[in-house]
Amino acid sequence: MKMNRNAPIGVFDSGVGGLTVAREIMRQIPNERIVYFGDTARVPYGSKSKETVTRYSRQIVRFLRTQDVKAIVVACNTASAYALDEIEKEIDIPIIGVVKPGAKVASDATRNGKIGVIATEATIGSEIYSRYIKEINPKAEVLGKACPLFVPLVEEGLLHDPVTDEIAMRYLSGLIDSGIDTLILGCTHYPLIRSTVGKVVGEGVTLVNPAYETARELRELLEQEELLNETKPELGSNQYQFFVSDAAEKFIRFANSIIKYGILSAKVINIETY
Ligand code: DGL
Repeated sequence: MKMNRNAPIGVFDSGVGGLTVAREIMRQIPNERIVYFGDTARVPYGSKSKETVTRYSRQIVRFLRTQDVKAIVVACNTASAYALDEIEKEIDIPIIGVVKPGAKVASDATRNGKIGVIATEATIGSEIYSRYIKEINPKAEVLGKACPLFVPLVEEGLLHDPVTDEIAMRYLSGLIDSGIDTLILGCTHYPLIRSTVGKVVGEGVTLVNPAYETARELRELLEQEELLNETKPELGSNQYQFFVSDAAEKFIRFANSIIKYGILSAKVINIETY
């Protein structure tokens, strides 16, 4: 189906973390309108099964289609790992996830072929980063480490805190010992503790934030499909709209701490009905 250039891009995540991806889209393609959905009632996805995450993702895609989005960005690494392959086959508008772009940048960045990935248990267990990296560089060695405590630490606002430093040290020491020179921040929340992770792994390790490359690839994709919005939406035209499945106030507070556009409202919807 041919979509309208002025239609919004649908961006979704299990909660607030995908705002790091939305923020990057806002920076790199500032003319685009965004409809963001955060599944705050059912977060976290990172400890759930493939079946459950796929069912949730399908419901969200159905909701986003009711908003007439022209393309969808799966801003959640776990949903990209578990659900994207299937959903891609089911819809007729462009859809991209964050894993493939992250894998590509890491493959380009590594010099010694040793790439670390930190992410949720689900993303690490799926070995999806390893699969995509090896498609590009079959000789690469990919070492994964699940870091489940990072998500609650970020959501508690402990971005620069000795507790986060200590946990990062425990999680990352094995990866450092194995000699990685590149580390993928394979979870939406981790770019927010980039400085802590950077401090622990040291300057010699290149940190990859998949959000940056995802926004770049989205731009390319929209250009190819002749779907790039050429004009800036008018002020007051609701360029960015936010929907959640629960706890709108908490979402708004978090959103305003990481995105510079004042986010005043987020609408709660019942995602189970989609
Ligand atoms: N958004 C998830 C991801 O990027 C992290 C939070 C969760 O577990 O739902 O994998």
